[in-house]
Amino acid sequence: MFKATLTATVLLAAPAFAQDVASGDAEAGESIFNQCQACHVVENDDGEVLAGRNGQVGPNLYGISGRTLGSVEGFRYSKSMAAAGEDEGLEWNEETFVGYVQDPTGWLKEQLDNNRARGNMAYKLRSEEDAANVWAYIVSLDPEAGEEASE
Ligand code: HEC
Repeated sequence: MFKATLTATVLLAAPAFAQDVASGDAEAGESIFNQCQACHVVENDDGEVLAGRNGQVGPNLYGISGRTLGSVEGFRYSKSMAAAGEDEGLEWNEETFVGYVQDPTGWLKEQLDNNRARGNMAYKLRSEEDAANVWAYIVSLDPEAGEEASE
């Protein structure tokens, strides 16, 4: 039973290079990213904007797969987000991402085991499926995402 589910997930994964790191549908995720772009861009190291326009309220989401939480240089994160990265050593993968975007502050409280933890992202993406799809989309914009995951 478990094996059958796993196979189905792999077959459904959209872009070949992201299939190791994403189970969602990148195409569906692209329109969900509209909800993020008021605050976020996906901008590569050459300064090319791959998604969004110029949202600066939140950090650049390029290359997020495998990245330590709260580690975009020059971005002022909440104390809780910085602690989740620096003290707990948490990294972004599908699981952490999907948990976080559904309830940023609630998720940080849980991870830090601290009821007073607070994140600065004032947005909740209420659907787990949408969260997995937008993850697949963001990861699909990073040609190195699949390689990192299989290292
Ligand atoms: C109203 C503005 C706003 C919106 C809308 C928003 N975010 Fe954020 N986001 C933020 C801010 C601010 C932070 C920094 C949080 C902190 O420091 O606690 C953040 C942080 C993040 C992080 C952590 C990145 C890192 O560098 O560690 C992820 C992942 C993320 N957002 C994903 C999303 C996704 C996906 C969406 C759309 C569904 C979204 N955000 C919508 C403002 C926003």
